[in-house]
Amino acid sequence: MHDFKYIKSELYAEDVPVKKIVEAVGSPVYIYSHNTFLRHFNAYNDAFNGQPHTICFALKANSNPAVLRLLAKNGCGADVVSGGELYLARKAGVPVKKIVYAGVGKTEDEIVQALKARILMFNIESSDEMIAINEIAGKLKTKAPIALRVNPDIDPKTHPYISTGLKESKFGIPIENAIEHYKLARKLPNLEILGIHKHIGSQITTIQPFIDALKKIILLAQTLKTHGIDIKHLDIGGGLGIPYHNEHPPHPKELSNAVLPMLESGNFNLILEPGRSIAGNAGIFVTKVLYQKQHPEKEFVIVDGGMNDLLRPSLYNAYHGVLPIRKNNRKKVLSDIVGPICESGDFLATNRELNRLSNGELIAVMSSGAYGFTMSSNYNSRPRVAEVMVKGRNFYIVREREQYKDLIKGSKIPDFLK
Ligand code: LLP
Repeated sequence: MHDFKYIKSELYAEDVPVKKIVEAVGSPVYIYSHNTFLRHFNAYNDAFNGQPHTICFALKANSNPAVLRLLAKNGCGADVVSGGELYLARKAGVPVKKIVYAGVGKTEDEIVQALKARILMFNIESSDEMIAINEIAGKLKTKAPIALRVNPDIDPKTHPYISTGLKESKFGIPIENAIEHYKLARKLPNLEILGIHKHIGSQITTIQPFIDALKKIILLAQTLKTHGIDIKHLDIGGGLGIPYHNEHPPHPKELSNAVLPMLESGNFNLILEPGRSIAGNAGIFVTKVLYQKQHPEKEFVIVDGGMNDLLRPSLYNAYHGVLPIRKNNRKKVLSDIVGPICESGDFLATNRELNRLSNGELIAVMSSGAYGFTMSSNYNSRPRVAEVMVKGRNFYIVREREQYKDLIKGSKIPDFLK
């Protein structure tokens, strides 16, 4: 569900015509719906009502400060994977006791920051990391609250690049080695064991992988109890998919219906780390048709947004719906929507049947609120685009478009070249 709809033939973001936003802000631009973000967050919160839980939004999906502030104000926590994300979460006002920190490569500096901030817990991914965190906590004369990220070896049946819970993945600790790792953690004096963490992948469109993984995790918690290790937080990660095309992913309520009965035997606080399912359909990427060309084999619609702005189609061959900002009845044509970047892989959509567009017209690349702006870059020295948040009849620039001068920010010409 989202708040980008046609009224007559004109695409609106909530109550604002998309065209009006582009007239004010320019193209390309990311546009977010305040309402959709909130509804998606509340859907999770309501689904798990009655069960002690913390929803920790995965910042990697969308870390715009206004988005984070909106979520934080409504009680959302944060799943962070870098010092930068920790900084942004705190700046946005996420309470530190709602911040969990995952990632296979936390640096000493990042660990120090998180310890000083007194976050809820580190999700540790290896014994080396465990030893490092113990040492750093010792130096700071504190105890590090931790969970171990275990890899339950479950196939989430999603794109291989975003599947993280299989044996061959770099993430987490193989579940068969979990007990020995917990025993090691217990021996380390500056660690406080609080939880178990798992995250098996992203864009998962069925409930079963969640159930299979959770069964293994609960069993692990029970076994740990027999070893005298009490688990307080069960962090089941993120991963719920969204409808990009023909998918029918489960609603958070279906997830909670499956998960909650499984938790009855324990006294856990449940942590969830949704990213895409909160942000994905809360945003669109709007870009303008520059030119069109017909090759013998194909038609191309060349737009002013490219893979540097929205990488998912190029990187994962991901499907994003494409809608004209103004519907028309012209003849349908099959074309590739491509960007201006000098790479053959620079496309936003391939083989799409759309009513013929005119140069200068705007199109919306749908479901771009997650892993859109956060994965954008300056490739081909293109300034990063603006981000706008719509609320009802109003819209707000929540990140200015970069300017050319931003492209040289921090760079220096050495003396010998002056
Ligand atoms: N927690 C952890 C530990 C994660 O690694 C991830 C995503 C999440 C939570 C959030 O997962 P979500 O609810 O968004 O599925 N760039 C890719 C997605 C990479 C996901 C990485 N980890 C894409 O554009 O599809």
